[in-house]
Amino acid sequence: MKVRFSSDRPSGAYTIAVPLWSDDLLAERLAQFDEPGRTLVVRAAEAQRFERETASIAEAFVPEGDRARRLLLVGLGAKRDDDAVFEKAGGALTARLLTSGETTLVIDLTGAKIDGEGAARIAFGAAARAWRYDVYRTKLSKKSQPTLTEIVVVGGGADAAAKWAHKSALLDGVSFARGLVTEPGNIMYPESFVERCRAEIEGLGVAFEVLDEDAMGKLGMGSLLGVSLGSARPPRLLAMRWNGASDPSARPLLVIGKGVTFDSGGISIKPAAGMEAMKWDMGGAAAVAGMMKTIATRKAKCNVVAICGLVENMPDGKAQRPGDVVTSMSGQTIEVINTDAEGRLVLCDAMTWGQRTYKPEVMIDLATLTGAMIISLGFEYGGLFSNDDGLAGKLTEAGRKTGDKLWRLPLSDAYDKLMDSPIADMKNAGPREGGSITAAAFLGRFVEESVKWAHLDIAGMVWASKAGALWDKGATGYGVALLDRLIADNFEK
Ligand code: BES
Ligand code: MN
Ligand code: ZN
Repeated sequence: MKVRFSSDRPSGAYTIAVPLWSDDLLAERLAQFDEPGRTLVVRAAEAQRFERETASIAEAFVPEGDRARRLLLVGLGAKRDDDAVFEKAGGALTARLLTSGETTLVIDLTGAKIDGEGAARIAFGAAARAWRYDVYRTKLSKKSQPTLTEIVVVGGGADAAAKWAHKSALLDGVSFARGLVTEPGNIMYPESFVERCRAEIEGLGVAFEVLDEDAMGKLGMGSLLGVSLGSARPPRLLAMRWNGASDPSARPLLVIGKGVTFDSGGISIKPAAGMEAMKWDMGGAAAVAGMMKTIATRKAKCNVVAICGLVENMPDGKAQRPGDVVTSMSGQTIEVINTDAEGRLVLCDAMTWGQRTYKPEVMIDLATLTGAMIISLGFEYGGLFSNDDGLAGKLTEAGRKTGDKLWRLPLSDAYDKLMDSPIADMKNAGPREGGSITAAAFLGRFVEESVKWAHLDIAGMVWASKAGALWDKGATGYGVALLDRLIADNFEK
């Protein structure tokens, strides 16, 4: 999708969209139409019971010479706070127009009480909602092919284009993450994940370090390597470093993603129904890769390291067994009760290596870690666990602003105790009850002294079975905007 900002409407065929706060005077915003045209729009809006609720739309066709101009009124609601209102309104427009036959959308902000940032956010929402992945479709009917190719924002304020530079970088990161998540397991596996990241991110000035099986073996990553034993695909640990802070030696923010490129469950195999969903068990790794693309593109003034723990979890004669005991890089031993609780086994070694190598002050991991998370919070909020109230607050706030929402759950000794094992230092699976919390407790055992840590269980957020405000059915790109906002608001100097 092409996005540009302009002070005038283009010539030729396009749909015009007019965003409206609940108290805007409609007649003022329709100044470019003549009196009969304005009346027609008002009547059409009434007939559609349009009340300007956020992202609601009324449609009209207004005569202009010998043609009919399609016009969309889109509601912004009454609240002028930061709850992703602009993004949602933009998204509603492209959801409506993507396959409508229209090629150009002109969003007219002339006379609107919307600043450059708001204008850029509307454009971001519009472009994000228009993203799709048709790579594997060879038979799309003409009517279901996208037609919309260009968004022009008119009257968005002097700094709108400058604000767009940031949003455009965010769009690149979100789109990249969605593509990674959408790819099936036969295409996206540890090595190909690394190659995609190299192709998209290395050229932006990000330093890559990739550990193969041998290197991980030498470092003693018995926990991560145990997961990968059943797979024909060799594992990888990918570290991407962006050093944009004015002090290049400042301790970095460390962000770690679970990158299980396919999770069959291993020997504790999952039921067949719905197993195909486990191609997106690398949504945490995709989010951190997307974040890297965004912050490197917009040259963020911060030091950030992103680590992706990349493995495939498969059953095989060589696979690890329930009951096996493995030794993690930290030296702590783990009894593998359930080979399907593999995400934590991958993350714990990535965490130990990341902390020892990069000495972060703050460490955040993102993982599609537990089905229990979806039972607790459904598909609306990701779960947030943290040993630091300040960090938890910053993440919650970034989530509220971007729409990548988070809700905090507890950590405590009583949950931690449930992970004790009779034979090793801990087991990898506790009781069914509180399954997301005991998973977090397991990870907590790998957080080193004085590191501020947050764990985000995003199992319900990576993939959507129905279209949302900023995405179609499928990959959401959850986490990229969240991390980008967190960094922009708190980690850049
Ligand atoms: N990747 C899954 C969690 C998951 C399930 C994410 C459904 C999204 C949708 C994870 O590896 C897993 O299998 N977790 C187990 C843990 C259990 C065995 C302790 C689970 O949630 O059932
Ligand atoms: Mn699993
Ligand atoms: Zn998994």
